Amino acid sequence: MQKVLVIGASRGIGLEFVRQYREAGAQVWATARGEHCAAVQALGATCWELDVADATSASSLSWRLDGLNLDAAIYCAGLYGPDTAGLEPPTQADFDTVMHVNVLGAMRLLPAMAEGLKPGGTLAVLSSVMASIGGRSSTSGWLYRASKAALNSVLKDAALALQGRALCVALHPGWVRTDMGGPAASLSVQDSVAAQRRVLAGLTAQDHGGFLGPQGEAIPW
Ligand SMILES: NC(=O)c1ccc[n+]([C@@H]2O[C@H](COP(=O)([O-])OP(=O)(O)OC[C@H]3O[C@@H](n4cnc5c(N)ncnc54)[C@H](OP(=O)(O)O)[C@@H]3O)[C@@H](O)[C@H]2O)c1
Repeated sequence: MQKVLVIGASRGIGLEFVRQYREAGAQVWATARGEHCAAVQALGATCWELDVADATSASSLSWRLDGLNLDAAIYCAGLYGPDTAGLEPPTQADFDTVMHVNVLGAMRLLPAMAEGLKPGGTLAVLSSVMASIGGRSSTSGWLYRASKAALNSVLKDAALALQGRALCVALHPGWVRTDMGGPAASLSVQDSVAAQRRVLAGLTAQDHGGFLGPQGEAIPW
């Protein structure tokens, strides 16, 4: 039976990963903030309360994962932050909140997530095409873009550190109809997650350290 961990599963893409992996018969562990574990547990997953922006809360993951031998661990938690168009400076509070969830949380949790994997398991982070510097043609949401570019850097270092032990990828889920993506987005959350699950299932050694879109296509860094 496949064993999967989803970090940030209260709603949106994270919750849909839990739903689809459970439907496929996988054993699923997930984390969510506050009161949201009930929705995750209703899908038959084990859920732990965890705020990725809180050091004490995040430190609980390591012992929980001891001996699980996961096939895959996915960091989904994310925040968009201020909806800017140009070079509006973020407030200190917005900067800290977005960077803590999108970057610091991943830096705190990825080592424990990697330790929880079986040899050759998959470690994935939910990045965004908006992180891409090579493909950039807009300045919208520059704090979010900066945070996801930093997350990509974190993933790349994880890939170097875990070479030969895990397959590490940054995933762009497409533009998805969730609270973050909004109602005008092009993909349903069901289709996005189904596509990402296909990408994860089809990963090979060549994909290690890659930045991949919902069809498995390489995205420029
Ligand atoms: N939707 C898109 O079009 C799109 C496109 C590119 C990339 N992404 C990325 O995909 C991931 C999931 O996005 P989504 O569309 O599902 O967004 P969403 O519906 O806004 O959900 C965001 C998730 O992140 C969790 N989260 C935020 N701060 C957290 C914290 N401090 N501790 C724990 N969990 C926290 C939220 O939990 P709470 O319910 O507790 O707030 C929620 O589960 C994000 O990383 C996002 O950047 C999304």
